[in-house]
Amino acid sequence: MQPKETPADFPIEDLIARRWSPRSFTDQRVDPGALSRCLEAARWAASCFNEQPWRYLVADRHADPEGHERLASCLVEANAAWATKAPVLLLVCARTTFTRNDKANRHAGYDAGQATAQLALQATAEGLVLHQMAGFDAQAARERCAIPEEYEPYAMIALGHHGPADALEGELREREAAPRSRRPQAEFVYGSRFGETR
Ligand SMILES: Cc1cc2nc3c(=O)[nH]c(=O)nc-3n(C[C@H](O)[C@H](O)[C@H](O)COP(=O)(O)O)c2cc1C
Repeated sequence: MQPKETPADFPIEDLIARRWSPRSFTDQRVDPGALSRCLEAARWAASCFNEQPWRYLVADRHADPEGHERLASCLVEANAAWATKAPVLLLVCARTTFTRNDKANRHAGYDAGQATAQLALQATAEGLVLHQMAGFDAQAARERCAIPEEYEPYAMIALGHHGPADALEGELREREAAPRSRRPQAEFVYGSRFGETR
């Protein structure tokens, strides 16, 4: 399956340009070694005080159909429609307090996102695709997956091999083919004052 075109304004690393979030997955099993390498890439992310607040709940349908079903049951319908086909589902959580002093860690989400970005790039390098999702029931996930109170469930991830766009129907198929778009740098890169042109 071809990666989507990334019309970058400046040349960027191929791995970054190739990562995108498709919705069509094949049932092909994800090599357990590749999955471990993706999680290892997350492991080596930077984090505030090296707290490493991220936690990943992982279920491979081929090895653990019950776990896959448990995670899938937390997805909102619009995501479940395509994401449950992915052979691996993950739930990204982060500890919102520091283990060293139990004080609030306001960078926990930042760190978990950074770890997941590394996971996504490793997945791309492995020839895999993934799609992160905020559309899930966090309270249901907390209960069904026994997530302790001091951990926040941030996102779910569908991971696997890219499938053909025509395996999707209607609007989903159109979105699979839609061009990638981004704000220009001028909209998010400022001088030393917020909003100031650089
Ligand atoms: C935290 C987060 C939550 C997201 N939630 C959803 C979601 O619930 N459903 C969905 O279809 N896509 C979701 N996405 C995917 C984004 O829509 C996608 O990353 C964005 O449109 C940019 O496209 P790209 O990843 O292909 O570059 C989410 C992405 C992130 C990072």
